[in-house]
Amino acid sequence: MKKVLVATDKPFAPVALNGIRQVVENAGYKLLLLEKYTAPEQLYEAVAEADAVIIRSDLITREVLDAGKNVKIVVRAGAGYDNVDLAAATEKGVVVMNTPGQNSNAVAELAIGMMVYGARGFFSGKSGTELKGKSIGIHAFGNVGKYVATIAKGFGMDVYAFDPFVSKTDIESCGVKPVDTVEDLYKTCQYISLHMPANDKTKKSIGAALLSLMPNDGVLVNTARKEVIDEEGLMQIMEQKAKFQYLSDVAPDAVEAFQTKFAGRYYATPKKMGAQTEEANTNAGIAAAEQIRDFFEKGDKKYQVNK
Ligand code: 3PG
Repeated sequence: MKKVLVATDKPFAPVALNGIRQVVENAGYKLLLLEKYTAPEQLYEAVAEADAVIIRSDLITREVLDAGKNVKIVVRAGAGYDNVDLAAATEKGVVVMNTPGQNSNAVAELAIGMMVYGARGFFSGKSGTELKGKSIGIHAFGNVGKYVATIAKGFGMDVYAFDPFVSKTDIESCGVKPVDTVEDLYKTCQYISLHMPANDKTKKSIGAALLSLMPNDGVLVNTARKEVIDEEGLMQIMEQKAKFQYLSDVAPDAVEAFQTKFAGRYYATPKKMGAQTEEANTNAGIAAAEQIRDFFEKGDKKYQVNK
């Protein structure tokens, strides 16, 4: 009997776990569960028994793959797979997949929610501003970016986007204004919402050069990864621009400096929570379980990311 390990430091909602269990058991497999673990050794031990693994932002290192001798497939229930050592997986013949689009609406709602929170002075009761009529630039127009665009239009925002991998025609077909260069996006918009993956090209790519193009009351919203920010550059801009806000779903490395220097203009969620909804957990978790079943039963590798 095949064993599917759900290894989540940040557990799925119970309703999602029930859905995953159903898919796994209906396929005739056994579900193994490791939640809220505190040391990698616990993951090494759990993975030793598994044929397949479902994770979230959990780190799948070479050591984890060494410990999981029978593991044939790892599915990241979510979008970003920067937490998986793809080279090690490929070397060992382990298929790695993600579940694109399944948790995107939840992340987009949080991005817009943080904008409202920032615009209303962090719900302090002070007079704030509205999103209506303000410009927003969506940096990277993938699944999350598209949802952000739809919601922002509902708020009456003026929506722009830049993505080197998406054509202007495709951006226009979503009712969004494309710009020619990334610099144009930052020059044009008061709000910038980040939606790129963390990789060698994007890490530390959002720094002083781009942010200096934004207005004094610019707002940078990061529901992507903390690694895409050049924190020194961002702090430099926040020092220069007296009303500039940084709203992030996960604290920066220099969290204490941000808290003390930019109180009232900086907010970070206590734990990455963009995809932390029952709906996103259910969609992504069940998709992951179904992808594992289809991989074992039909050899389906549609969402493989380490080809
Ligand atoms: C993703 O890449 O899908 C999101 O960042 C969600 O990550 P999480 O599953 O750890 O909440």
